[in-house]
Amino acid sequence: MAEFEPKIVAFVCNWCTYAGADLTGTSRIKYASNVRIIRFPCTGRIDYMLLIKAFDEGADGIIVSGCHPNDCHYTSGNFHARRRWIMFRSLCNFTGIDTERIKFSWVSAAEGARWADIVNATVSEIREKGPYTEYHKVSRHAEKEVNHG
Ligand code: FES
Repeated sequence: MAEFEPKIVAFVCNWCTYAGADLTGTSRIKYASNVRIIRFPCTGRIDYMLLIKAFDEGADGIIVSGCHPNDCHYTSGNFHARRRWIMFRSLCNFTGIDTERIKFSWVSAAEGARWADIVNATVSEIREKGPYTEYHKVSRHAEKEVNHG
C-alpha cells in the first residue's frame, strides 16, 4: 500500500516567504512536493476563513508564513496576522479543529533553506498524524449544532 502523502496548503506573503520559497527553487534545494502555495500581498491580508476552506477542500495541513517581525513590507501586517492567528486558534480549539495541523512561521526572502526545512518538517509531522478525516466529522457536528440550535 502506498504511503500517505499529505496535502499541505501554504498561505504566504509576496515579499518575504514567497521570495524565500523562490530562492529555495533557484538554489536547487530539494524539498517535499506536497505543498501548494497561495500568495498574498501580506499575511495581514489573509482571511483565516480560507484556512477552514482549505481543510474543507481536503487539505491535511496548513502553513501560514510571512516576513519576520519588523520586516513587513507594509510595516505591521504580520503583527495583525499574528494577533488574528491567536484569536483564530482559540476559536479552532473551541470548535475542535486540530491546530497542530496549522503552522505559523516567518521566512525571509533570504531563507530558502529555512523554507525547505519548514515544509519538510510539516510534511513529516502531518504524515505521522495521517489524513485529516476528523475535520469533516467536526464540521458536520458544528453544522448540525447551528441548524438545530
Ligand atoms: Fe510580508 Fe507583510 S509583507 S508579512
